[in-house]
Amino acid sequence: MQIPPRKECLKMLVDMHMPEHIQDHSKLVCKVALLLTDALIGAGVPLNRPLVTASALLHDITKSRSFATGENHSHTGGEYLADRGFPEVGHIVRQHVVLDAYFADEAPTEAEVVNYADKRVLHDNVVPLADRMAYILQRYVKTPAHRKMLEHVWSQTEKLEQRLFSHLSFSPWQVGELIDDR
Ligand SMILES: [Fe+2]
Repeated sequence: MQIPPRKECLKMLVDMHMPEHIQDHSKLVCKVALLLTDALIGAGVPLNRPLVTASALLHDITKSRSFATGENHSHTGGEYLADRGFPEVGHIVRQHVVLDAYFADEAPTEAEVVNYADKRVLHDNVVPLADRMAYILQRYVKTPAHRKMLEHVWSQTEKLEQRLFSHLSFSPWQVGELIDDR
């Protein structure tokens, strides 16, 4: 498995002309994802830390381009990374908005951690899940069917939160303060 190291990920963000605020968002998503990953590993869940790091940093790699093209940035981000020799990272990036399958594995996965971490960061602030999801509904809903799909994702993400935190000794609302302590 090829995983770009952190330094290379940060260079890729710059090479893709990612605006500063999306870079800050990506770095904070990475911090949240690593807080959860380290705690989950400590609780005996086998997770690949470098894979989480790269996937979190690169999850919005085609986002700024998508504003002009209207492309589905999670899908094209996944393709972009697969084309550059990082299919496993691409596999997770492709699922950062909606997971391919919810709770298919017994233990939490890297894709679940990155997907959830992104839903806890609004711009460059750690927020409760409900705040981020309300923003997504308000900003991105295109049709009633799209709203229904997003509401389904919302309820699945609430279950995902319960699943992740069932392994952890801290609660979802402590994430912000724990990140500041690291
Ligand atoms: Fe995104």
